[in-house]
Amino acid sequence: MLRFFSKKEKVTDLFWLGVDIHSHLIPGIDDGTANTDEALIYLEQLQELGLSKFICTPHVFTELYPNTPEKIDVAFQHLQQAAAKQNFRAPLAAAAEYMIDDTFQVRDGLLCLHDRYLLVEMSYLSEFPNIDQVIFDLHIAGYKPVLAHPERYVFYYRDRARLSRLKEVGCLFQLNLLSVLGYYGPEAKNQAKYLLENKLYDLAGTDLHHERHLKVLKEGVKSGKLYELIGNYGFKNRELFG
Ligand SMILES: [Fe+2]
Repeated sequence: MLRFFSKKEKVTDLFWLGVDIHSHLIPGIDDGTANTDEALIYLEQLQELGLSKFICTPHVFTELYPNTPEKIDVAFQHLQQAAAKQNFRAPLAAAAEYMIDDTFQVRDGLLCLHDRYLLVEMSYLSEFPNIDQVIFDLHIAGYKPVLAHPERYVFYYRDRARLSRLKEVGCLFQLNLLSVLGYYGPEAKNQAKYLLENKLYDLAGTDLHHERHLKVLKEGVKSGKLYELIGNYGFKNRELFG
């Protein structure tokens, strides 16, 4: 018998992504969550949306958040203990989001998402002058750099060729889910659209810091809008980090 569908089926969860590889849920060490209670509320709600593993990535940014692996580990252990007490079962891991600036040094012991994948970011306002060299040096040191939210760097809005160049020198790109929902404004949304259309993204993440992020994300997921926009893109979160 023929079946007719008047509408495409709505998908209102994040099972298709599976693993969140970018968030600021380790409490008290950057501009993310303030305490474990808040972090656990967000983790529970993200799990309800369909995410089943969380790699938490506090900022490592000399000027504002001079976090060390030791400091991140201590804060992460507190979160893990609180999660275990509350029977939160999804696996949690700690890594970092490194700011590429004059103080950043390619060295051993950088905190990776997994298997040498390293999450990095730059200032939103000006391109780091030696970014190509840093990406190259990271590769030589055995890291696999992942540039966080390439759609948010304003200096690339009128120079998309530079983004393609970063891909060519071996940088993976990670989309912020909130960008396609317009949270960061029309230009970031437009840039994300361009990067999606040209298949330049490899990964996606929530980059969740606080309640407002969660609210917008939930609306986007539950309305089916997020899936409609990017659900079939083929992000490699599960494949590389599941
Ligand atoms: Fe971030």
